[in-house]
Amino acid sequence: QRIPVICIDGPTASGKGTVAAEVAKRLGYHFLDSGAMYRITAYASLQAGLVIDASHETAIAQLAKSLPVRFDGGRVYLGNEDVTDAIRTEEAGMNASRVSALPSVRTALVDLQHGFQRLPGLVADGRDMGTVIFPDAPLKVFLTASAACRAERRYKQLISKGFQANINDLRADLEARDARDSSRSVAPLKPAQDALVLDNSTLTIEQAVNQVMNWWLERQ
Ligand code: C5P
Repeated sequence: QRIPVICIDGPTASGKGTVAAEVAKRLGYHFLDSGAMYRITAYASLQAGLVIDASHETAIAQLAKSLPVRFDGGRVYLGNEDVTDAIRTEEAGMNASRVSALPSVRTALVDLQHGFQRLPGLVADGRDMGTVIFPDAPLKVFLTASAACRAERRYKQLISKGFQANINDLRADLEARDARDSSRSVAPLKPAQDALVLDNSTLTIEQAVNQVMNWWLERQ
C-alpha cells in the first residue's frame, strides 16, 4: 500500500509549519517538521564544540546520523533534554540554515525523514520535501508570502511570547536565510515542478488550510 504524503515547502516564516500541522491534525496524519532536524543538528553540533562550517562537515554528519531526537506531545527532545524552545530562536534558525547547506549532513538526515512516512499518511514541512525527500508525493504545495508579511508574522509571534524584536532586523535575517537556502548547491529552496504555489500573504490560517485540504480532496 502506498502511504500518502502531502509536502508543504516554502521560505522562512511563510506559515508552513502552522498550516502543515493543522492539515495533519484534520486528516489524522503524521507530521514531519524537517526544519527541526536541522535546528537540532546545529544545536547538538555547537554543544559538542563543533564549528558549523565545511571543515567540520564529516563530524557534523556523523552526529546527525545518530541524533537521539524524539518528538513527543508537541515537544522536541535531544536525549533527555527538552530543546523545544532553544531551537526556535532566530539564531538557532540561522545556525540550522548553515548546517543544512552541508551536503553530507543532508544525506545523513534522509533516513530519519523517510521514517516518518507511516500509515495512515504524512504531512511533511520543509524546503525540499517535494523536490528531494518525497519526490513522488501526490500533493506538493509551495507556501510563500511577501518578505514584509513574513517579517510581520514573525514579529507578532515573538512579541506575543514576550520576546523583544525589531521588525527590520527580522526582515533582514529572514531574507539572508532565504538567500542562503535558495542559492545552496544541494536541495535549494525552490518549488517542485509539480508544486501548487499558494501565496499566504493575505490569507488567514483557516483559508490556507482549507485550500490545501481542497487540493487534497480533489486528488482522492
Ligand atoms: O523551517 P525552519 O525555519 O525550521 O528551518 C530551519 C532551516 O533548516 C532553514 O532555514 C533551512 O536552511 C533548513 N531546512 C532545510 N531543509 C528542510 C527544512 C529546513 O534545509 N527540509
